[in-house]
Amino acid sequence: MEPDYDLLCAQLRALLSGEPNFIANAANCAAFIYHEVPGLNWAGFYFAQADGELVLGPFAGRPACTRLPSGRGVCGAAFTSGTTVVIDDVSTYSDHIVCDSASASEIVIPLLFGGERRGVFDIDSPTLARFSAGDRVGLEALMGTFVETIG
Ligand code: SME
Repeated sequence: MEPDYDLLCAQLRALLSGEPNFIANAANCAAFIYHEVPGLNWAGFYFAQADGELVLGPFAGRPACTRLPSGRGVCGAAFTSGTTVVIDDVSTYSDHIVCDSASASEIVIPLLFGGERRGVFDIDSPTLARFSAGDRVGLEALMGTFVETIG
């Protein structure tokens, strides 16, 4: 089920290169991942406010929770720790914030710009344990490509 992440990174770099607008690139990044990584029902950004609250950014999928309180949910855990969080079964994670009841597993990758935490990229799947160790590495590489390309 793992796509060719090296190829996806090259394609994402080509898609974003030359466009300086942050929102345009974030929107295309979310749509690209949603369509090119199989088995997803949501993919998108949450950006941190000064108080740590996460606010919805560009995404693909059904409408989602607009604001996630500081430190809360899977997204808050990834943002606070600065490390990727993978949840194989969201129903077993007590602080999971439900935006779409179809979501069964989730991966959240912190967005680091030059070491500074700016937000997270959140990906949901209707399949339990959708995200393997290889998907984690590949999706982290895609986020690295996003940050490099727009940085
Ligand atoms: N489930 C997330 C909230 C965001 S939605 O999945 C799009 C969480 O627990 O942080």
